[in-house]
Amino acid sequence: MSKVEVKGRVSPFPMPVAILGVMLKDRPNFMTIAWFNRFNGNPSIWGVGIGKGKITLEAIEKHGQFSINFPSSDQIAVTDYCGIVSGRDVDKSRLFNVFNGTLEHAPMIEECPLNLECTLYKLVELPKAVLVLGEVISAYSDDRFMTNSILDPKKVDPILLTQPDNHYWTIGDIVGDAFEVGNKLKQ
Ligand SMILES: Cc1cc2nc3c(=O)[nH]c(=O)nc-3n(C[C@H](O)[C@H](O)[C@H](O)COP(=O)(O)O)c2cc1C
Repeated sequence: MSKVEVKGRVSPFPMPVAILGVMLKDRPNFMTIAWFNRFNGNPSIWGVGIGKGKITLEAIEKHGQFSINFPSSDQIAVTDYCGIVSGRDVDKSRLFNVFNGTLEHAPMIEECPLNLECTLYKLVELPKAVLVLGEVISAYSDDRFMTNSILDPKKVDPILLTQPDNHYWTIGDIVGDAFEVGNKLKQ
């Protein structure tokens, strides 16, 4: 075997990048996230790992609501910015046009092609982070990001992150159809 051990921390490779929105006092605050995924189909429950002590976590604990917004690759600078400055020090509320769906404390970003508004489902304490599980109440997009009424990955043009090199990427080419291409191996 020619395998070698990968040194250091290994992350999912790659990770989609999103911006989590909360209400901080009376204004929106936005934090960049990469540790997240969907963990239950129906209801749709997503989990986000948030480092202990972050002000965004305090806001989620207080209001029990948040949003997850998927930026396009032309938004990498503002997406990165939301991940390197804190709402404790900087007002991030004016970076975007903000809208609300049905929830009062889940501010969403108009410029992002996909927005999810979530209510807190459960908090799971981990050694250095808290796994925030949230139920998606509604999802929003725009016709211009869809083809035949479904989200079109090329039009959404999401941002991907690889670590430990810390590079942002865009998605590449389609290489096959899920739940389909494996059928040819069935006897
Ligand atoms: C690309 C990127 C991804 C990030 N992902 C996460 C994450 O999943 N969880 C986390 O706790 N912090 C993550 N961070 C760091 C937070 O976004 C950062 O600490 C931010 O300043 C917190 O905002 P706040 O202090 O306003 O809550 C990430 C930062 C970047 C740049």
